[in-house]
Amino acid sequence: MERSLVLIKPDAMERGLAGAIIGRLQGAGLKLTALRMLQMGKALAERHYAIHKEKPFFEDLVEYITSAPIVAAVFEGEGAVERIRKLMGATDPAKAEPGTIRKDYGLDVQRNSTHASDSPENAELEIKNFFTEKEKFM
Ligand code: RTP
Ligand code: MG
Repeated sequence: MERSLVLIKPDAMERGLAGAIIGRLQGAGLKLTALRMLQMGKALAERHYAIHKEKPFFEDLVEYITSAPIVAAVFEGEGAVERIRKLMGATDPAKAEPGTIRKDYGLDVQRNSTHASDSPENAELEIKNFFTEKEKFM
């Protein structure tokens, strides 16, 4: 089944929106299959956003995403990647469609509340940065 990595970013965590965002994805029929709260370190942030390392906003992005705890989650479903990106809306909340998560909760182009994988291939790579396949705690 197709999977996507979702991050609830610091701006949303600081406003207590993790539950609401997870609930919206579950309410849309996506299955929550992994969940963890953590504060990303610089190395993990640079790996997760490696594709943007030449962009002018890269340093700010790493600083922002490591600034406070986040929630990482895996959601599963048919066409999960595309469906979740639609539910989240455009990167810039000001340009996001009404009813999307970023329109409702995002503050600006950086503090846009959520991350979601942009392809099934990238989802599988990104998930490995946050979860092992068979986690057991006892
Ligand atoms: P994401 O990867 O977080 O799901 O977001 P996205 O695909 O919609 O956007 P992307 O182009 O991958 O950008 C990654 C994150 O970098 C921050 N950003 N800042 N200051 C800027 O112009 C700018 N542009 C992007 C955002 O936090 C964006 O989600
Ligand atoms: Mg992206």
